[in-house]
Amino acid sequence: MGESGAGSKNTLSVRDNRTGEEYELEIHEGNVIRAMDLRQIKQDPDEFGMMSYDPAFTNTASTRSTITEIDGGKGILRYRGYPIEQLAAKSSFLEVAYLILKGELPTRDELDHFVHEVTFHTYIHKNINKLLGGFRYDAHSMGMVISSVAALSTFYPEAKEIHDPDQRWNQIIRLIAKMPTLAAFSYRHHRGLPFIYPENELSYTANFLNMLFRIGVKEYRPSPVLERALDILFILHADHEQNCSTTAMRVIGSSQSDPFSALSGAMAALYGPLHGGANEAVLRMLAEIGDVKNIPDFMESVKRGERRLMGFGHRVYKAYDPRASIIKEAAHDVFEVTGKNPLLDIALELETIALNEDYFVSRNLYPNVDFYSGLIYQALGFPVQMFPVLFAIPRTVGWLAQWQEMLEDREQRIARPRQLYEGEGERDFVSIDRRS
Ligand code: CMC
Repeated sequence: MGESGAGSKNTLSVRDNRTGEEYELEIHEGNVIRAMDLRQIKQDPDEFGMMSYDPAFTNTASTRSTITEIDGGKGILRYRGYPIEQLAAKSSFLEVAYLILKGELPTRDELDHFVHEVTFHTYIHKNINKLLGGFRYDAHSMGMVISSVAALSTFYPEAKEIHDPDQRWNQIIRLIAKMPTLAAFSYRHHRGLPFIYPENELSYTANFLNMLFRIGVKEYRPSPVLERALDILFILHADHEQNCSTTAMRVIGSSQSDPFSALSGAMAALYGPLHGGANEAVLRMLAEIGDVKNIPDFMESVKRGERRLMGFGHRVYKAYDPRASIIKEAAHDVFEVTGKNPLLDIALELETIALNEDYFVSRNLYPNVDFYSGLIYQALGFPVQMFPVLFAIPRTVGWLAQWQEMLEDREQRIARPRQLYEGEGERDFVSIDRRS
């Protein structure tokens, strides 16, 4: 962070009214002050010094990044400067993955090489099959994939060499390549079906769909419309700057653990219903509402604060999530092939009401990425418990790019926030027979 605006005084004057002391804090590019500059503010020289208190990091930047830019007020999302709308319309998921990881769009040769690398690392060690076989038939797919990603670290001990760029790249390729295989195997286990192994002549998404859905035929070729729709969904989910799971990836990675372990932790953070589990929660909510006529009662309970309208609201977007607009469009193409998802009418009606009701308008609650994605996933034939996994596959790219950026950032150290201790002061131990 350098100083900005030559000639002007980029400082913030702070007066501590307890002591009458004045401090001048530097204002850095991006309109930020360094939290460590507050430390000099103290009443007594022996004091620790002032800190900022920011539960849930709502106003704290923890890193500089060049990967993803969001303007939440304007509904803008760009990867490496490229608008998400252009990438969704003109690019492919693996091309976007390369862009996110390397910073620039690939040349034809670079893309071919990258696709080849990913394609030839899709197989997983057969002992992972045994691991998956140990889960109950009704185990949640996300739990299975989180566990198997963590287990992969034991198959690749060289992944610990995180300061070696070649080793890092090997693990990045492995993770992007193997995630669809792990996801498909978890689905097949759930259905009690034999695993279908990757086929190298298929695209990333066609291979995934083949491993999931091929039953009783030698060849399974998904509809190109559905293959493309899944590819677009993957592009839209590839990165989203410092969200809960990405922060988890960076925090775990900051202790220098291997990327498989860190990524399983990031996936665990994604699993919750307020983050990547929201698409599953949306579908369950729509199914529970069941009929358009039940919407008014449902909305009243949301406004009374008894429940949330899942798929609405966002910490950063205070406008329509640009990903939601693209997904809504893509849904029409998908439904032309699969037939309309009957829950669509309920979703559209919920959106219309929410965009016109003061409760939602005054809180800037608009549809987010998860509101319509589940309807497409369901139309493609995925059970709801696969939805968060479908988020995790493309987000693997973002997690790894952010992890790599963190490792190369000289300012980053092991993540370790402060706390405000509010518990008891020192007191003497009381033996158990003397406690009341
Ligand atoms: N339904 C009803 N009320 C809501 C909702 C909602 N979905 N979201 C926020 N609010 C209300 C909330 O009750 C609060 O009202 P009040 O000021 O009266 O207390 C106000 O809006 C601000 O909410 P918040 O919880 O302080 O906002 P946040 O920034 O901490 O939470 C959020 C963001 C995404 C967790 C939240 O909007 C939410 O729970 N949404 C539903 C879950 C969801 O769709 N999550 C997916 C997020 S996008 C994909 C991803 O990044 O994973």
